[in-house]
Amino acid sequence: MKRSTVLTEKNRGTWATVFVGLILLPVVLSILKPLWAAEPEVFLEPADERWEACLKDPEYMRYRHMDLLKEARADVLRDGLKGGITLAGCGDCHQNRDLFCDRCHVKASVSLDCWGCHYYLTAGELEELEQHEGGGQ
Ligand code: HEC
Ligand code: HEC
Ligand code: HEC
Repeated sequence: MKRSTVLTEKNRGTWATVFVGLILLPVVLSILKPLWAAEPEVFLEPADERWEACLKDPEYMRYRHMDLLKEARADVLRDGLKGGITLAGCGDCHQNRDLFCDRCHVKASVSLDCWGCHYYLTAGELEELEQHEGGGQ
């Protein structure tokens, strides 16, 4: 080995600099990361901007919306109380089912079988519908 690559009294300042540099490298990289990292993508489609609030507070909606829907269903199917919350009504504000409900459910491995009976379209289906309507009958 050449003498200059061995740690000696004379070159230990250089060695120390190299080591400190290596140790700090990840820190420096993580500080600079925002310079090249892409903007994070918004995960859930925001609700229609004309509305500021959901049916209940966001905390409740995030974790308990299924209870609300099941109560609403029981009201209609068991007690005949129509005119309350409906599944299709969620779509008045959360317009595209796939960009809101489905995105979250897919991530959480929840699968629903509501859409064969209940009218709540995905972005693609909405577009298709508009094309047909624009087709002039
Ligand atoms: C086999 C068809 C069918 C399936 C599948 C189904 N429903 Fe329904 N649901 C109905 C019918 C019919 C009514 C009564 C509608 C009425 O009388 O207005 C209803 C009513 C409801 C209501 C109250 C009124 C409304 O229009 O939203 C809710 C809430 C509801 N269902 C939620 C669900 C959920 C959540 C799922 C999936 C987990 C689901 N349903 C799956 C047929 C179905
Ligand atoms: C009148 C408009 C409106 C209706 C109808 C509506 N929502 Fe919302 N929803 C909102 C708004 C606005 C927010 C955002 C609230 C906030 O962040 O303060 C929201 C938030 C949510 C969230 C929380 C999302 C998150 O950030 O974690 C869930 C879940 C949700 N809604 C589910 C539903 C379901 C299920 C229905 C139908 C039963 C429904 N919403 C009906 C307007 C609505
Ligand atoms: C913030 C994430 C998130 C959003 C947004 C969301 N859900 Fe959910 N949803 C969940 C999770 C997680 C579960 C399962 C909870 C459990 O099993 O305890 C669930 C369960 C459900 C269930 C009950 C399923 C069953 O078989 O018991 C229904 C119905 C439902 N969601 C409807 C909706 C509808 C309609 C929307 C859109 C308007 C929506 N959810 C948006 C996370 C979400």
